[in-house]
Amino acid sequence: MTVTVRAALANWHISTSAHSEFLIFALLMQSVKKEIVMSGIRPTGFLHLGNYFGALRNFVRMQDEYPCFFMLADLHSLTTHPDTSQLKTNIHRVLAEHLACGLDPDKSALYCQSHVYETSELYLYLSTLSMVGELEKTPTFKDKVRQHPQNVNAGLLTYPVLQAADILLHRAKLVPVGKDQEQHLEMARNIVVRFHHRYSEVFPEPVAFNYGGELIKVPSLDGAGKMSKSENQYATLYLSDPDDLIRKKVMKAKTDTGPTAPNSPKPDYIENLFLLMKLVSAPDTLQKFEEDYNACTIRYGDMKKQLAEDMVRFIAPIREKAEAIQQDTEYLKKVMIQGAEKARSSAQATMKVVREAMGLNYY
Ligand code: TRP
Repeated sequence: MTVTVRAALANWHISTSAHSEFLIFALLMQSVKKEIVMSGIRPTGFLHLGNYFGALRNFVRMQDEYPCFFMLADLHSLTTHPDTSQLKTNIHRVLAEHLACGLDPDKSALYCQSHVYETSELYLYLSTLSMVGELEKTPTFKDKVRQHPQNVNAGLLTYPVLQAADILLHRAKLVPVGKDQEQHLEMARNIVVRFHHRYSEVFPEPVAFNYGGELIKVPSLDGAGKMSKSENQYATLYLSDPDDLIRKKVMKAKTDTGPTAPNSPKPDYIENLFLLMKLVSAPDTLQKFEEDYNACTIRYGDMKKQLAEDMVRFIAPIREKAEAIQQDTEYLKKVMIQGAEKARSSAQATMKVVREAMGLNYY
């Protein structure tokens, strides 16, 4: 369906720019009841393997099936990373990584949050529909208070309100996010319900959206939790890591002396190595090590060497592509402007409806 609509648009020659083509595409998709997808990633550091398998890989698929808004959440990052000296580098790098992973600025809206001023307007309106008690109870807020006791700013408290604004600004319903964001989505739904109760029906109720239901968790290399920007740096593989660093990190992963009885259950840190292998190695490679494990003949040194090489083969092309794109600042600028235009058009259309619904129209 999506492909047909795109092809039809190309044939009609009605689009004078990629921008208007996207809008018509979004409208047509809405008219055939295609829901809108919206998600964001905070540019607080470069992207890692968890971002790739948990988000980007799915975004690449979604951009062919839905009208999509993918955003770099730079305003959110100000709540925890007030020092902006690295922000430009991070934005350039993370945007380049999105593009290197296959996101196409002609297909979806790829933009920076701070370029869409309507976000801040909606954020303020929605804050009047958000209850302080509820915000204070949010687990992510409590975590951040623990992590940054000297910077418990109000933006940290209203973080989920800003996120709701990002989503509702495009009247998006489908939000591809991990489990840790469920609470924020629930808050967004509560805000929607209150808005509809107090004013009138404007927004869909946003829900978490993932293919097949099961989220892929990319485990960290130290056997503790999943890969993340803030945890142990040596346990996280970045899409920007050079080959030798990838090898070093994989070889340092925790193992033990091996199973002592056939078909034993795997300890977490060993299971994690198999999970990582499943993501980047060939199926018969994985099978060979599974068999070795079950027969108690596995040599973890060999397994990690294999995993390291397969990881290098997986990450190196993305890294090299992202590096080349990152150098091309003119192209990045073009992509950011194009994305901001698409996002702003959609935001302005929504805000018109929102102001009316709220009674903020005096003439
Ligand atoms: N809070 C999200 C995270 O930390 C990032 C984010 C910001 C987001 N705005 C969003 C995700 C809107 C989905 C939709 O991962």
